[in-house]
Amino acid sequence: MTKLVHQSTSEAESYRPLASQERVEEIKELRQTMTSLGGGEEGEQLHPFLGLTLRVPSQVMTPCPVSPMLGGAVFAEVRPGDRVLDMGTGSGSLALIAAKKGADVVAVDLNPHAVAAARANAELNGVADRVESRESDVFDSVEGRFDLIVFNPPFQWFAATDYADVAGTDAGYQALTRFFREARAHLTEKGRMILFFSTMGDVEYFEKLVADEGFEHKVVFSTTQPVFDVPVEFTVHRLS
Ligand SMILES: C[S@@+](CC[C@H](N)C(=O)[O-])C[C@H]1O[C@@H](n2cnc3c(N)ncnc32)[C@H](O)[C@@H]1O
Repeated sequence: MTKLVHQSTSEAESYRPLASQERVEEIKELRQTMTSLGGGEEGEQLHPFLGLTLRVPSQVMTPCPVSPMLGGAVFAEVRPGDRVLDMGTGSGSLALIAAKKGADVVAVDLNPHAVAAARANAELNGVADRVESRESDVFDSVEGRFDLIVFNPPFQWFAATDYADVAGTDAGYQALTRFFREARAHLTEKGRMILFFSTMGDVEYFEKLVADEGFEHKVVFSTTQPVFDVPVEFTVHRLS
């Protein structure tokens, strides 16, 4: 598996869990179970997703069973002609959904394998003219403002071991924290955001970031699904 070559470190030390000690222990146990089972299949997987076909290399997150819920929320939110930013695009799944609805999309990721996959998947699904993919650590290489920003962030706060792991964990929530601090400056006046989060992470910290930045907040969808026999609540948030 490709090793992680860069990940910013600011703010990693200042994060302290806001979830209860009991929840923190449960989340740590879940992390241990997930890491002990390793990174999944080697090689490229072909993955159907809401009418799209995605080629997903092993260093990139494959959409999971709850991803269609998020994809559906993005499809419902996008208006044709919107300028959309897909932060942490992975295989490009959400960027492609937005492009299919007629948006112009910038798809960014820290992981160069994800950027390449998103670009190839845009070609494969006939929306290459509407999706521009590029490497970026949060907003570092993002210019301008967007009508809609979508972000399915890594849910956990532990240090990542490689690029595949960066999909699930973000040391000290440095990326999530920077995302919230900088998002408003990348939104148009009536811009909105669709974000995903789950109880695999520190929901109280996520909610504090939302409140700190003064966003209007609505839960669009929520479902509880087992992850390694642990019930996990997944929630789609709309912020404006
Ligand atoms: C949970 S995955 C979501 C992938 C895809 N959007 C989806 O919904 O299937 C999180 C993504 O965020 C990316 N990511 C993590 N830290 C990042 C950062 N600092 N800047 C940009 N992307 C980041 C990961 O590489 C990963 O592709």
